[in-house]
Amino acid sequence: MARIDPHSFADDAQPRQTHLAWAARVNFATRTLEGTAEIHFSRGGAEVDLDSRGLSVQAVTTPAGKPLPFALGPEEPILGTRLRITLAADDPRCAVHYRTGPEASALQWLTPEQTAGGRHPFLYSQCQAIHARSVVPLQDSPRLRITYQAALTAPRELRALMAASAVDRTESGATATERWAMEHPIPPYLLAFAVGALEARELGPRSCVWAEPPLVTRAAWEFAEVDRMLTQAEGLLGPYVWGRFDVLVLPPSFPYGGMENPTLTFLTPTVLAGDRSLVNVLAHELSHSWTGNLASNATAEDFWLNEGFTVFIERRILAVLEGTESVALHAAAGRQSLDDAVAGFRDRPALTRLRTHLAGIDPDDAYSQVPYEKGYLFLRALEDAVGTPRFDAFLRRYLQTFAFQSLTTAEFLAFLAAELPEASRAVDIPAWVDGEGIPPSAPRPASARLERIRSLGARVPSSAEAAGWTPLEWQVYLGQLPRPASRETVEALDRAFRLSAARNPDVLVAFLVPALSAGHAAAVERAQSFLAEVGRMKYLKPLYAALAARPETRSVAESCFERLRGRYHVIAAAGVESLLRRARA
Ligand code: BES
Ligand code: ZN
Repeated sequence: MARIDPHSFADDAQPRQTHLAWAARVNFATRTLEGTAEIHFSRGGAEVDLDSRGLSVQAVTTPAGKPLPFALGPEEPILGTRLRITLAADDPRCAVHYRTGPEASALQWLTPEQTAGGRHPFLYSQCQAIHARSVVPLQDSPRLRITYQAALTAPRELRALMAASAVDRTESGATATERWAMEHPIPPYLLAFAVGALEARELGPRSCVWAEPPLVTRAAWEFAEVDRMLTQAEGLLGPYVWGRFDVLVLPPSFPYGGMENPTLTFLTPTVLAGDRSLVNVLAHELSHSWTGNLASNATAEDFWLNEGFTVFIERRILAVLEGTESVALHAAAGRQSLDDAVAGFRDRPALTRLRTHLAGIDPDDAYSQVPYEKGYLFLRALEDAVGTPRFDAFLRRYLQTFAFQSLTTAEFLAFLAAELPEASRAVDIPAWVDGEGIPPSAPRPASARLERIRSLGARVPSSAEAAGWTPLEWQVYLGQLPRPASRETVEALDRAFRLSAARNPDVLVAFLVPALSAGHAAAVERAQSFLAEVGRMKYLKPLYAALAARPETRSVAESCFERLRGRYHVIAAAGVESLLRRARA
């Protein structure tokens, strides 16, 4: 017997899950889900180990109600609790009757005051990487895909949504039950749902956007290009197989920019910049419909297979929609964030590899821009070596070969060697995949607009020079300021361009980070108010880190976090907490 994933109790000698039938009641008063998870396996008559975290299990039975032996192990720090069930010899299914814990790591329960509408509570899930087990007991490894059907019962004045095809809605008394089906086998981290006062606006023949009523009109404008993105992606990668591509705008505490839940992408409201300048997040999540949701990473150690490919495709779509200048700027901003991530892993350089070793490491702690931007550069290096037409054909064959499968980095490398043998002559594949840091030969983004920004260095541009800069150009310029930046520079920038009032949060944070390190007083004020508005980790972490890095503002970081941590998602709060702990040491 052997574990198939360092982050799961699943064992390859045991039966494998194939299907989930899930029914749960959403209880906002107790902040729990109560229900039954009926799981189908490849065979019966054996023991099976499931992952769980914080669940209270009342009983395990066959679907017909015959009790089955089960045992919950001790709680382990990263994995959670093993739930061992003995399946009946004549039935390869079990029904777990259980309740989630009030601290379930995948769930965020919001009070009405924490929503845009202000009148109704809200609940949403975020299961990647290993949080599905806090909602449903299952083999929580992307190697073991499931189809599912689900029924959620919630207060009738709310709308429940799930990342699957809607079946029906029935109302009874104070509650409504909504049902869904996911007919394609998905990795468990793609289970997703939300419950709240939500409204939809049509975006195109296959898409609508869901949001709280005060946001829905803005959201529909921001994402109006979605159908063009879909068409472009299909041209590059083959048909979109998931049916609908809807989008859900979450409350501000959503800890990520986006999450590629099948048929229903989840997005942070911080992408509603009012000028479509952050639609790359939408292009990114759409791209995952192929890379990630069709061909999935086998474990969190192969996470770059999901994210590196997806950034690559995101930028191919943007090249058509916005042009190659925009892509060069995105790649340059990406390279800056990659260099920051590599510097941040000074004491843990093994986490700068594409293929990581994560036994004993929580995937949330290993999360960084490395799999995204180093993965992107690696694929660019391969594309440069064989030419775009050959690389595109390779991408399509890759997706055909691994559709609805999960693969390891080793399996990818074997496929690459067979399909593009000449790539290994031009590209030092072991250095990219298993080496630390960034190979010096990495492709460098270049464009005319980028060169103009680079030639400024740390000089403050004149208003003529910066006239017509897009938010992305500001982000790249601010990202190239020396650390720490000079106080005169950040003050002059703020005076001339009002950057501490920037509407695009990427620009705002790109300004606040050097401004905080330079001790700019207005930046401390703005950082504090912004930290109370959003919960996206991409913004929380650099701002808290910049505040905590200076002795003069360390206590601001601590007191801000004490005051606000209850508003953040548990994953985000844990991330900030460990960052502050390291800053104190
Ligand atoms: N799948 C990720 C988000 C994620 C990764 C959640 C790991 C939990 C664990 C999503 O596709 C993503 O990459 N989001 C980015 C968007 C960006 C690259 C455009 C984000 O949230 O910043
Ligand atoms: Zn992604």
